[in-house]
Parts: sequence; structure tokens; C-alpha cells
Amino acid sequence: MSVLAPQVQRWSAGNREVLWQRITGRHIPLDPRTLEMLEGGDPRMEALRRRMRSEFMLADGPQPDVMALIPVRSRLVLLLPKASVLWAPAPEVRTAGGYGYREIALDPAELAAWRAINDSRNTATVAARAGVHPYLVRALLRRLTASDVQLLQLRTTPPRPRDPSLQRMVSPPRPDAPRTAEQRGDAGETTLSAYHLEDITDGETHFDDRETTIAHALATPHPSLGGRPFGQALFDALKGRDQVPTSGLIVEVGCGTGEMAASFWLQAASASRQYLRIDLSPELLHTQRRRAPDTAGVLADGTRLPLRDGSVDLLLSNEVMADLAAVPWRPGTPREGAAAQVAERVARYGLSVVTETEGPPTLFNLGAWKLVEEVARVLRPGGHAWLSEFGAFDRDPEETRQLDHPEVSVHFGHLLQIAEALGLEARCLPMAESVGLDLNARQLARHSHHALRARARMEGWHLPARAWTPEQLTKALPWPAKGLQWVPMSEEGPGPLVTRFLVLTLRRP
Ligand SMILES: C[S@@+](CC[C@H](N)C(=O)[O-])C[C@H]1O[C@@H](n2cnc3c(N)ncnc32)[C@H](O)[C@@H]1O
Repeated sequence: MSVLAPQVQRWSAGNREVLWQRITGRHIPLDPRTLEMLEGGDPRMEALRRRMRSEFMLADGPQPDVMALIPVRSRLVLLLPKASVLWAPAPEVRTAGGYGYREIALDPAELAAWRAINDSRNTATVAARAGVHPYLVRALLRRLTASDVQLLQLRTTPPRPRDPSLQRMVSPPRPDAPRTAEQRGDAGETTLSAYHLEDITDGETHFDDRETTIAHALATPHPSLGGRPFGQALFDALKGRDQVPTSGLIVEVGCGTGEMAASFWLQAASASRQYLRIDLSPELLHTQRRRAPDTAGVLADGTRLPLRDGSVDLLLSNEVMADLAAVPWRPGTPREGAAAQVAERVARYGLSVVTETEGPPTLFNLGAWKLVEEVARVLRPGGHAWLSEFGAFDRDPEETRQLDHPEVSVHFGHLLQIAEALGLEARCLPMAESVGLDLNARQLARHSHHALRARARMEGWHLPARAWTPEQLTKALPWPAKGLQWVPMSEEGPGPLVTRFLVLTLRRP
């Protein structure tokens, strides 16, 4: 006979067995061998048995008294009071873009009960506060603690703030986004030329729906930047370090929507300066022209700049280097195509690389190296460059799997070595420090943004991906939503995680 309580469901999720307490909506994931040892009465399982007893999961342990337990809401669900529905992710619908969402309709009694749940009242008090018969509250809890719903947990004590189990579901792993044949070259390197030239077809929504950047999430004035948009904060930071030229050419490589160009140029515009946008996407160049009409744009590749040597006073490139070619290569293996270019540069610049013989070959940011070489060529003496991307100082590049195109994190240590070898003064610092971004300022949590975006899509309107503050979001939403979560800028909001971003600043002596 099983040691598990009759209300415990069991299923396999990858290499784990999940035990789900049907009444409380609580679960424990276990290694299958551990479960065998538990079932076999192994005395080494005593600590686990104690934990399972406290979670009402053992047949010979206590059983849950629903009226005495505290209902606690998942942080992933929203209440849309006007529609009288819960708007919730479906645990079993997992796509590369995130969860699928669905409505769970509530009748007036259920709505009153849901509203009375406050993470510290027990079920009996919730029923009394809501003026609803306890039987109805129990029926609602039973619906919402089911493993295919996962919107409530019943607990013996209130949760700790930011309890991670309330911010995720037990779901199949998120699948990798599909890749097309054009996104890899002959040496297995990432190549996004076709993606940028042809696959970006809606510049207005691309950065809301397919790849949100920090500059886009912060394109409207934001408290984390002292009430300024990103481009203005960058201008002020560079001006404060004397890096904005009084005259001459400012070049931005890879400008996305043009929002950064627009707010930077609003500060920098003068008759003696020019702002040139360089981008590989014809569609985005159109969007940029609409957003920043007083700047010039050119369709070109940032790794082959159509600019004369020593002609640029300031070069900006924000979140572009991860799009540039990254090449898998193992030192000591044949050098052909892109791999040969990596090998030649590793030797030329004396880059430190670890020779692993096991596992997949290391990725090298060949495209970002070429961008730095181009910067060294085009900067005039005394000129500056500011290049940002996600990555680390000394970690091998890794490919992201959720986007519809492969992006690769940047090894900034290699960039610094290359820049110095090319005679540039180089410095690497965190993005937040570089633009003076307050990591404690608040923004909408990513999962709340995903829920709202899914609802907007269902209703046929568009929600931009901004680092929403409560005041901004109230103005943007056509209806009220309850259950929204707010996090500091150091955590995941609608845009990428700021703390993963570094900046390389360069100066030609
Ligand atoms: C991730 S977006 C960043 C956009 C913008 N800088 C921002 O932070 O929102 C990358 C941008 O670089 C452009 N891009 C990608 N590869 C490029 C290349 N090889 N040369 C020039 N532009 C490129 C893309 O079209 C896009 O505008």
C-alpha cells in the first residue's frame, strides 16, 4: 500500500516525480529514487517524511482541515473585476513566448470570496468576510488548487514576501524558439543578416512583442532615470564625463525603433553636430525616421561601417553586439571560414581561451570583435564610443533560447583586450552605473506584463512593453486589474534584466 495520502497525485516532469496535494494545491518535486526509498520505508528518509507530513502528503499523517487553512493566491493570476474573471496562465500551455492564458469566470459569490482572500485569513474567516456559505468557498478552493489550474495554495501559515512558489507553476519546460536555416552560417556561426533584412516586418510593435530592449522599456520618462527617458539619461551621463562632442559626427549603430536617437538628439541637436543612424533592417530604418526625423539613416552592416577612418566623434551602440556573428570553435581544430577568422584574432590579440575537449565548442563573439575593430578605425583622436550588451566580463558567450532568433551574450573581457591591443583606452562597467539608473525604482513585474499583454492581444489592442509604474499603467489600461505585481529595476520587468548588461566605453587617444 502506498505511503502517500489518497489526495496526493503523482506525475513525472522531466527527471523529477511531482507529488501534488490535491486539497492544498501544494507540491513537492522528488528524484524518482528518493520516492522509491520513501515508499520502501528507508530510515534515511525521516527528514523528508517530516516535511511531507507537514504538507499533508502521508497516509499515516494528519489530513488538511480546509476551514482552518489560509488560502494564498498565485502571483501569476489577475482579477479583472469588470469582466468578473480571473485571467490566468494555463500550466500545461507552454510556448517559447511564455504561458498560454485563459479566463476563469467567477459568479458573484466566488468573486466576493476571491476578494476576501488576503494571504492571512483562514478559509472560515474568508467565508464570513465575504458573506458566502463555507460550502461555496470550499468548492471554489477545490477548483483553484487543482494541478491543471494552480491558482491557490492552502497553507498553515502566511507566506513569506516574494515566496518563489507563488510566482511559478509546475509546467513542462519552456520549449526553445524555432531557428531557421538562414540563422546559421557554414561554420555553425549565428548570422542574422536575413532576419534583419527581411523578417522584421513591423517596426512599431517588434520591440513590444518579439525582443524588448532596455532602451525601449525606458523610452518614456521613468523614475529609475530621474524622470527622463533612456536616451536623455545617456546623453546626460556622457555629457557629465565630457564625452559628447561640441561639434562633429555622432553615429549610432543598430537603432531599433529610433527612440534612443530621438531623445538623445533632442538634447544634442545643434547646427554643428550631425546624428547618423546605421542599421541592417530597412523596416526599422523607416520606424526610426518617423521617430527621429531630424537624424539621417543608412542601411549598412555595423561590422563594415561605411565611414572614413578617423571621421566619428561619438559612436553609440545599444544592445546590438548580441545580434552579431558568434562562432563555435575549439582551439586546435581545423580553421576554415568564420572559425579561421576567430583563430587568427585569438592569436593576433593574445586572447585567453580555455581548451575544453569535452562538450560543445565554445562560442566566440566574432561580430562584436569586428565592431570594436571598426570603432578603432573610424573614431577620430579624442573621440569616444559607448557599446552596451548583455554578458559578463569573463564568461564564455551563451545563446539565448526564447527569442525567435539566436542572440549570444558577450564576453566583455575579450572586447577590452582587443580594444587595448588596437590602441584604445577601454573601460567596462555595469549598464546601471553607466547611465545612472536607480535599481531600486519600481516597475511592473514581467509575469504581470505578460498577463496584460496576452489579454490585450485577445481583445485586439496593443500593450507596449514599458517598465510601467502604477501611475503610467493605470492610464494605459482600459479597465482595472487586481493582483499586479511590482518589482525593483534589479528584477525582471517587461524589459530585459538590467543587471545582466555591461557597457564598454572606448576613447581614441
Ligand atoms: C536588439 S536591437 C537594439 C535596438 C536599439 N539599439 C535598442 O536598444 O532598443 C538591434 C538593432 O541592431 C540592428 N542590427 C542588427 N545587426 C546589425 C548589423 N550587423 N549592422 C547594423 N545594425 C544591426 C537591428 O536591426 C536593430 O535595430
